[in-house]
Amino acid sequence: MILLDGKATSARIKEQIARQVEEMVAAGGKRPHLTAILVGEDGASKTYVANKEKACAAAGFTSEVIRMSADTTQERLLAEVARLNADPDVDGFIVQLPLPRHIDENKVIEAIDPRKDVDGFHPENVGRMVLGLDSFVSATPYGIVRLLEEYGIETRGKHCVVLGRSNIVGRPIANLLSQKGNPGDCTVTICHSRTQNLASFTREADIIIAALGVPEFLKGDMVKDGVVVVDVGITRVSDDSPKGYHLAGDVAFDEVAPKASYITPVPGGVGPMTIVSLLQNTLKAASKRQGR
Ligand code: GUN
Repeated sequence: MILLDGKATSARIKEQIARQVEEMVAAGGKRPHLTAILVGEDGASKTYVANKEKACAAAGFTSEVIRMSADTTQERLLAEVARLNADPDVDGFIVQLPLPRHIDENKVIEAIDPRKDVDGFHPENVGRMVLGLDSFVSATPYGIVRLLEEYGIETRGKHCVVLGRSNIVGRPIANLLSQKGNPGDCTVTICHSRTQNLASFTREADIIIAALGVPEFLKGDMVKDGVVVVDVGITRVSDDSPKGYHLAGDVAFDEVAPKASYITPVPGGVGPMTIVSLLQNTLKAASKRQGR
């Protein structure tokens, strides 16, 4: 079994990005700037945004976090999005999800200028990605594809089972892996909460992308020997530790790892790849804006 080390892989990619930034600056360009809007006090969202800020600094980007209270109105948030769309200093921005219930996420995502939508969530970017056109690919699917690529994992003709059909992970990764090319050329099955006899699919899978958000859902008896497992789950599970919680993936790692050829750890697998993919998208947005 080989660990798909997202931490080490993302650190290498981050160094490459940092070098490209310094070249850009040396050639008279501006450092890429990423802004994140954080609405409310969700602990996990705060951690993600803090990690994104840290990554920006490490790669030589400038960044800013706009914090808005949980009772912010949709109108107020849309006004902030419009302001960032028009701000020439902002190359890309994200609105951290989930948003409070009284705000329509789709309305907010649709309001983002697709050229600054470095999360790749806007319908224009999703549509272009599905058509195989140049676009911002959302960070988690992009990070997964990069990780498979970095480890030289053969995907052509393989049966990939995706667990979960979210707009952020399940649907885009299923689409990317079914496209022509490498990584790609997979036969893809999407399983979700209504799938009957789900284990009959996972037992046939050469590659499993687990993105359900259900801790330790995928057990050892649900996979075949030699399977490649990518665990996207990262749920905070309460415990008696000083922190009060630990992070759990969607895969029962101790049971599945001995049967797997490759597997991501949680944490240190997909998470850091997601963040570095966001940097990559922001660098791309900045390069385009500066005509480079
Ligand atoms: N919430 C969980 N993952 C993400 C992400 O990749 N981007 C944003 N904006 N919110 C998220």
